Amino acid sequence: MTRPIYLDYNGTTPLDPEVLDAMLPFLGDEFGNPSSSHWYGIRPKQAVEAARRQVAGLLGCLPEEVFFTSGGTESNNHAIKGMARALRFKGSHIVTSAVEHPAVLEVCTCLQAEGFETTRVAVDDWGMVDPGRVERALRPDTVLVTIMHANNEVGTVQPVASIAEAARARGIAMHTDAAQSLGKVPVEVSTLGVDLLSVAGHKIYAPKGVGALYVRTGLAPEKFCHGAGQEGGWRAGTENVAGIVGLGKACEIAARDLASAMAHMRELRNRLHEGITSRVPDVRLNGHPEHRLPNTLSLSFRGIEANRLLEEIGLKVAASAGAACHAGSVAVSHVLEAMRVPVEWAKGTLRFTVGRMTTKAEIDRAVDVMAAAVAGLRAA
Ligand SMILES: Cc1ncc(COP(=O)(O)O)c(C=O)c1O
Repeated sequence: MTRPIYLDYNGTTPLDPEVLDAMLPFLGDEFGNPSSSHWYGIRPKQAVEAARRQVAGLLGCLPEEVFFTSGGTESNNHAIKGMARALRFKGSHIVTSAVEHPAVLEVCTCLQAEGFETTRVAVDDWGMVDPGRVERALRPDTVLVTIMHANNEVGTVQPVASIAEAARARGIAMHTDAAQSLGKVPVEVSTLGVDLLSVAGHKIYAPKGVGALYVRTGLAPEKFCHGAGQEGGWRAGTENVAGIVGLGKACEIAARDLASAMAHMRELRNRLHEGITSRVPDVRLNGHPEHRLPNTLSLSFRGIEANRLLEEIGLKVAASAGAACHAGSVAVSHVLEAMRVPVEWAKGTLRFTVGRMTTKAEIDRAVDVMAAAVAGLRAA
């Protein structure tokens, strides 16, 4: 059986073969614990520190400002809970946006049980946060602003630098979830002006279960995981050495190939968009037309149910839905809802995301599949 064409790179990415090669020794002979002072600990320890330098190289920060975690969710938890709790003596208000990933929104909700208050800033019809709105939401008791760099569903890239400027002018810490932007657009902590930034390995061709958090020197989020002294005593637990080595290699590749990867993704994403719109009527694009990840295409097919469309294409194209219809009711994603996408469009939303391994031939086949599936459902 031929496998469906993979157009869900925002969901996760395949492992880059170069990443796998870098990891293999640490799943084999180099099994030592980096904390061991004997011979077996030497290479793993060196490899973890080399990976830290590779991640720092991509982010433009110091290696000692990079902490390894288990992924984007954990990094967001560390950043938001860690900063909020450490700064509790100053205030208990957090500003975020309406279109964050649950790995931010749920963390903020959890903090509400501890007495924190959250303001979720609204977005415009393109899913964009207005820095002015963030600025107006800031209060004397605001301790943290957390706004994602790029949205996972529609790809809108937020004006993080302007938002960070407003936050930092008032001495408020700024975190950004860069799980989706890293490797797709330039992500540099000083250009963005952020204090904390989350990285997810499996979105940049590294394995699942590894990530990183950048913490600007001088900040002291509350220790999150207590135990032995790994990661500067801040995140205890024996390191996922192979995963960390993979993340480091993936960051090195992302830095090396960013320009060509961006051009490749943009070309194929646009080819898919043009192919579909030239053959299928009543389609609309979600997300910002320009300030958008080069790989992301969120399309709404008017009058169609996304899960019916996914069933129709499921053996041929792997994409993801922006709404789920159950027993006559429609659950539209919080992102499309925040963007005020009308429900007759929103319920037929699919997200197609291309990546470094996507080919033109795959895109052309996917266009054929989509044109036939939509026509079939509309005729039925
Ligand atoms: C924007 C964003 N943040 C966080 C995450 C969670 O990352 P992880 O799967 O590594 O926990 C994702 C994953 O989809 C994401 O898209």
